Amino acid sequence: MLICIPDVLSKAQVETFRARLDAAPWVDGRVTAGAQSAAAKRNTQAPEDAAVARELGDAVLDALAGNATFLSAALPLKIFPPLFNRYETGDGFGVHIDNAIRPVKGTPVRVRTDLSATLFLNAPETYDGGDLVIETAFGAQEVKLEAGAMVLYPSSSLHRVSTVTRGTRLASFFWLQSMVRDDGERALLYDLDHSIQALTITRGPGDGEVIRLTGVYHNLIRRWADT
Ligand code: NI
Repeated sequence: MLICIPDVLSKAQVETFRARLDAAPWVDGRVTAGAQSAAAKRNTQAPEDAAVARELGDAVLDALAGNATFLSAALPLKIFPPLFNRYETGDGFGVHIDNAIRPVKGTPVRVRTDLSATLFLNAPETYDGGDLVIETAFGAQEVKLEAGAMVLYPSSSLHRVSTVTRGTRLASFFWLQSMVRDDGERALLYDLDHSIQALTITRGPGDGEVIRLTGVYHNLIRRWADT
């Protein structure tokens, strides 16, 4: 399941992020790449332990904690602290797959990467190229979103970032371990949650079938979730 979530950050937040990241230290993006992806990767990143990365990363997590679409789609268990990358003209990232397990630096925590996320920080009209191209069962999907919007996609997908040919592509990216490991099960829960929300509006929260479907949702979570 590939989901685009608009307005994760407000316009004002995006402005603040860009100003702070302008002054960040930037290093070669291959520091977090595995052996295969390092060969394909050409960009820069704010270091994982830089204060600016941690502060802005926490602001991303705060925004997501209040985002109903994200919570319903991801059912997050553990979230890797968000990182920040920058693709200048000529940069890109060839086709690769993200590492399955990500240790969080300086902690004993390890995150199994079920979902990958990219939060766009520059307006799409300010750069050419820089599309996130994700291979899916229905063909390649090209994703390039408004500043402040985020895409969530299965980490099991092959993907790439097309070469930037004008301007700069600035983004936050991270991975998460979901309470529900299987993408198909998670997609069913997301659809069911959507329908329950819609029926709650038309039939009211006290409606017998709404209550029964809510029970089905929670009993499926009980069956499929790890905590
Ligand atoms: Ni990747």
